[in-house]
Amino acid sequence: MTDKIVVAIDGYSSCGKSSMARTLARNIGYIYVDTGAMYRGVTLFALREGLIHGDGTIDEAGLRARLSGLSLTFQRSGEGEEPVLYLNGACVAEEIRSMAVASQVSPIAALPFVRDFLTKEQQAMGQEKGIVMDGRDIGTAVFPKAEMKVFLTADPKIRAERRLKELRAKGDEVTTLEEVLTNLEERDYIDTHRAVAPLKQAPDAVVLDNSFLSIREQDLMLRFAFEAVLAHL
Ligand code: DC
Repeated sequence: MTDKIVVAIDGYSSCGKSSMARTLARNIGYIYVDTGAMYRGVTLFALREGLIHGDGTIDEAGLRARLSGLSLTFQRSGEGEEPVLYLNGACVAEEIRSMAVASQVSPIAALPFVRDFLTKEQQAMGQEKGIVMDGRDIGTAVFPKAEMKVFLTADPKIRAERRLKELRAKGDEVTTLEEVLTNLEERDYIDTHRAVAPLKQAPDAVVLDNSFLSIREQDLMLRFAFEAVLAHL
């Protein structure tokens, strides 16, 4: 019997972490957990509860008090569907990708009690191993002992171009490359400079720069790395 491991995938925004992690999980029969979706779920909850004011300030005491009433799970909405985020039993896969959530998630993710709450949830999800988890602090804070750690990076301009292509495909004809690049660099800055669990490469992570890799090449490299880790357990 092959031992199951924890695969931790961290990296910058818009590097393609989620699709890479999801594909690996599907190929190796592991559970995939998108921790960014969980931070977005807490943000949606705070917005719905009126805990984020018009000027962007957060009712931290209110959020802390209500967190125990918050349940975040990944469930399939139908046969053969990928598991998506459910908030207190209702699917929120679409809402967590809204601009309202995207623009508030960084300050919510910087709150130590939110990180503490979600870190514990994530550790519980990975208790049995057999999991691919992606985020910003998986290899450093959530699973510092993960058997396989990948730190994904790509040139900011190439990431911005990919993101712009996605926006255009969704019908956004107005956002410029400059705007996307500025937003990306701002998020990188916040993620790498926050006090608690900032985005940083774990010393034992394999760095993968996918600027010039096709998705197929990237998936193959990851699969190869996974097999190599298993062979050396
Ligand atoms: O990966 P994403 O863009 O969906 O993440 C949303 C936000 O959550 C982003 O601001 C970074 C933050 N995040 C985090 O702080 N720690 C994680 N493990 C995952 C995401």
